[in-house]
Amino acid sequence: MDTIPVNIKEIRNFIIQEIKNSSKCHPWFWDEHVAVVEKIALKILETQAQANKEIVLLSVWFHDLGRAYGHNKDHDVWGAEFAKKYLTEKGFEAEIVMGVYNACLSHRVTEVKPESVEAKILATADAMSHFEEGFYLRIFFAWSKRMSNYQEMKNKLMKKIERDYHQKIFFDESKEAIRPMYEAWKIVLITKNPA
Ligand SMILES: [Fe+2]
Ligand SMILES: [Fe+2]
Repeated sequence: MDTIPVNIKEIRNFIIQEIKNSSKCHPWFWDEHVAVVEKIALKILETQAQANKEIVLLSVWFHDLGRAYGHNKDHDVWGAEFAKKYLTEKGFEAEIVMGVYNACLSHRVTEVKPESVEAKILATADAMSHFEEGFYLRIFFAWSKRMSNYQEMKNKLMKKIERDYHQKIFFDESKEAIRPMYEAWKIVLITKNPA
């Protein structure tokens, strides 16, 4: 990919291998999630010129890496710590290391909220990626293996979609771009069948 600086391409390749060779995360996880987050983040970067592109890209690649090692519930903390250690050992400047650390740590927008523009780009691209490539269908299918109540699953998915749309998208133009998909999911999940 031409837009990615040569010196960090090898980190991208390392992460692709870790995810694709992992038995702990889904085989589609790079192609249908992380690569989509990357594509969207690059697009957002075109309008957020003040952002540090290196921090954004590294954060995109590291943010869910914990899932490849079986760390699901705490994958935000795990990914942040892993990235900090890895990038420090590779000799990256503290500003880059901490930028990536903070973005990974806050990408779920739960207890820790994104503060930097780079962290906001990651959280936004992460949420927007869920509206592409059938991500919601993928997780709905995964839930169906441990949940049996269809209505409960639909409610849970709608809750996730509401959170993605209202709490994780930080830029007005991004929100506007994704609105038709958000509205479509609402119709699918909430509208009752006609009597
Ligand atoms: Fe995540
Ligand atoms: Fe993610």
